[in-house]
Amino acid sequence: MCGIVGYIGTKQAAPIILDGLSKLEYRGYDSAGMAIYDGEKINIQKSVGRLKVLEELTHAGATMPGFAGIGHTRWATHGIPNDVNSHPHFNAQATISVVHNGIIENYIALKNKLIKKGYQFVSDTDTEVVAQLLDYYYKGNPMEAITKVLHRVEGSYALGIMFAEYPDQLFAVRKDSPLVVGKSEDGCFIASDVPAILKYTRTVYYAENQEVIQLFADRLQFYTVDEEPIEKEPVTIEWDAEAAEKAGYEHFMLKEMYEQPKTVTDTLMPRLKNNDIVIDELQMRDEELAAVKKIHIVACGSAYHAGVTGKYVLEGIARIPVEVDLASEFRYRNPILEEGAMVIVISQSGETADTLAALRESKARGFKVLGIVNVVGSSIAREADSIMYTWAGPEIAVATTKAYSAQLIALYLLAMKFAKVRKTVSEEEFNALIFDLKRLPEQIELLLSNKEKIQKFANRYIGAKDIFFIGRGIDYAISLEGSLKLKEISYIHSEAYAAGELKHGTISLIEEGTLVTAVSTQPDLYQKSISNMVEVKARGAFILAVTNVGNTEIEKAADYVVYIPQTNQYFANSLAIIPLQLFGYYVAVGKGCDVDKPRNLAKSVTVE
Ligand code: F6R
Repeated sequence: MCGIVGYIGTKQAAPIILDGLSKLEYRGYDSAGMAIYDGEKINIQKSVGRLKVLEELTHAGATMPGFAGIGHTRWATHGIPNDVNSHPHFNAQATISVVHNGIIENYIALKNKLIKKGYQFVSDTDTEVVAQLLDYYYKGNPMEAITKVLHRVEGSYALGIMFAEYPDQLFAVRKDSPLVVGKSEDGCFIASDVPAILKYTRTVYYAENQEVIQLFADRLQFYTVDEEPIEKEPVTIEWDAEAAEKAGYEHFMLKEMYEQPKTVTDTLMPRLKNNDIVIDELQMRDEELAAVKKIHIVACGSAYHAGVTGKYVLEGIARIPVEVDLASEFRYRNPILEEGAMVIVISQSGETADTLAALRESKARGFKVLGIVNVVGSSIAREADSIMYTWAGPEIAVATTKAYSAQLIALYLLAMKFAKVRKTVSEEEFNALIFDLKRLPEQIELLLSNKEKIQKFANRYIGAKDIFFIGRGIDYAISLEGSLKLKEISYIHSEAYAAGELKHGTISLIEEGTLVTAVSTQPDLYQKSISNMVEVKARGAFILAVTNVGNTEIEKAADYVVYIPQTNQYFANSLAIIPLQLFGYYVAVGKGCDVDKPRNLAKSVTVE
């Protein structure tokens, strides 16, 4: 996720901005840049790579003198990481400069309009549209230009803006992307997060959606989008710097779990248009989609688990055969890919060696590969024929949570798109699916808000030796991921089983008090699940059940029940996984494990 820092005051701006950006490094980034007003004009320096490159380029800011500036660390979304796509972006005369965190959803339409009016674009970014649009509306009054732009852009944004004709002022605005504003005796600040400015001030203001902030060296003023002044009370930050990086959460994993409602919204909403699903990135016409005979999903770890769910959803909704493979197996098993097959690889990092090899293997055989990837500009993103990004932002904790949730959404969208073109769902069913999709973010939020209940339960199992997860169909896929979350961070042995399979061997491991987590979200399988619970209960198991609200019958078999809100059966994974993530997390916390960096694991597995 991009990071923004801006400063105007009595000190040199560049070193303050570089220092602030370094405190935002945890957000993940691939390039960095600054714009500083030097007394005559705006100077801009930017470069792909670590912040160190920008520091060297500017001699730690010394070559960019000036008392006002904006800076940015970019986590690429639109356009690969390179110098030109890095921020700040600017108009042709470099008299207006902009840094941006977020996504301008309607940037293509705006860009096309501006091109028709004679504007030329140098980058592939959505942000450059903001700079050029500001130029278009700027007639000498910055506030007027900014508010006009705000009425035109759609999406999410935190923007820092400079006008060369107003060197004593900086401007900022936000909608659905974070922005804090700070004030000290030496000047005023903007930043994506508190740690960036904590060294200079503990007095901050939180900007609300679509508030415009005008910053001077010695004061600041908030306005509504209609230019009405707003009075705001400052907040004093009490946290230390490390806690502030995690926005007050104890671990990045917890923070990322809490980001899931946003991640789901960001992955979903840009692809929902007028109650229809538009996935332009597929670059496939409806007839081509309808002609696909089989889908091969290939991935590793949690991404593979998302793929297993994808199989059930694609087969269930779109009635298209799906094979799911672990990438490490696929690449060496000489897979049979027949004409009409489509290959989908899923990867958060976009760098997983086995997944990349599977992609190359498929391409070498002449098959087109769709990548579902989180990191823009990663190897898989570059090499796939088409790419569907999961807009989860950077994930810092090694154990994936929000990227996995975003992968599920991408797969639901694909399944519904296929269903529509293959006419396997009625219009009524399709609309009901859309309705349920849109409700997922608030339902996830609700589940997250019940974390204390899970925490209490988890504390009872910090000494457990083995924990099993069982489920049928999609519930089996959920169990796979729930089990992985638990074992990878808590080091408690855990296995996930298709519920009907346990009795073919593994049930001999069940002892008095062994915890078995039974996932039961598929109404047509409720009774079967209950039978499997009874089987293990009879061998002494303690049963934690995760099921849909209303399925109270389960209480006959389960010892402890967590209910999830009602949704379409195909989307249940997105909800049922939340208590399981929380369970794994709290067991690991209770055991005192290094939750964000579990032993022996790496975030990006670039070896086979
Ligand atoms: C588990 C986890 C891993 C990854 C796997 C694939 O929490 O994060 O299992 O899912 O290593 O990584 P990506 O998605 O980067 O290809």
